[in-house]
Amino acid sequence: MKNTVLTFKQAKKDGTKLSMLTAYDYSIASLMDAAGINAILVGDSLGNVMLGYEDTVSVTMEDMIHHGAAVARGAKNAMVVIDMPFMSYQASVYDAVVNAGRLMKEGRANAVKLEGGVEMAPQIKAIVAAGIPVMGHIGLTPQSINAFGGHKVQGKTEEAAMKLIQDAKAVEEAGAFCVVIEGVPQVLGTMITKMLSIPTIGIGAGPDCDGQVLVYQDMLGMFSDFTPKFVKRFASVGEVMKGAFKQYIEEINSGVFPAQENCYSIDDGIAEKLKEKFDY
Ligand code: KIV
Repeated sequence: MKNTVLTFKQAKKDGTKLSMLTAYDYSIASLMDAAGINAILVGDSLGNVMLGYEDTVSVTMEDMIHHGAAVARGAKNAMVVIDMPFMSYQASVYDAVVNAGRLMKEGRANAVKLEGGVEMAPQIKAIVAAGIPVMGHIGLTPQSINAFGGHKVQGKTEEAAMKLIQDAKAVEEAGAFCVVIEGVPQVLGTMITKMLSIPTIGIGAGPDCDGQVLVYQDMLGMFSDFTPKFVKRFASVGEVMKGAFKQYIEEINSGVFPAQENCYSIDDGIAEKLKEKFDY
């Protein structure tokens, strides 16, 4: 059955955990969908893991729509959430609604995600009023790393923790159906989860959040440019891939690949005629 905002609401009510992973293409989305993931996030982390940027700042609406639509084709049951990229919503409420609409219409999202708390409440309110579900994202919000001075855990001082709690409440009050909490002390993940009536999805916010999200290349060991503490490696797929690539190269060089079973045949009579005609 298709996961929707109602699945998220029910999970919070029942105390059942929610699972979300990022994906950026059809094949990976299909695998996650078959595994039974609740939601697939087409994160703007695609700037790092798919496009090789240092951060998410350069990611465009076109990037998100292109990858989002591919994921949506593979996600039969998982809810598809597409990230609003940097500067597609910050400058005005108008931009926010128009661009959220594009992610729904062209990217075939089931919901959009945007970063920010109190300051982004008007944008969240307006997008929700347009009939588009919004997932909030607070804490270590990667689009603001230049303002933070790097990938730094947020909410560590009393003042910063208070601001984080205000952000969480503002996102809920603005009408978001869910909020991602990233890179904060565990105790804040726990407190905010208890305070809110909408589910929290943690990434570096401890085990008490209502659900968890990870970037799939991180959890599969396919990306090693940087590995935050909150990442758990569930498999070493990167090593398996590297091994397969090496074997492929070796087998081409040694003539082992392609083997007979990888070749197409033609009627012997035709082959003979061709041999005679071209004398080879
Ligand atoms: O872009 C992304 O992948 C994200 C998750 C890490 C939450 O926002």
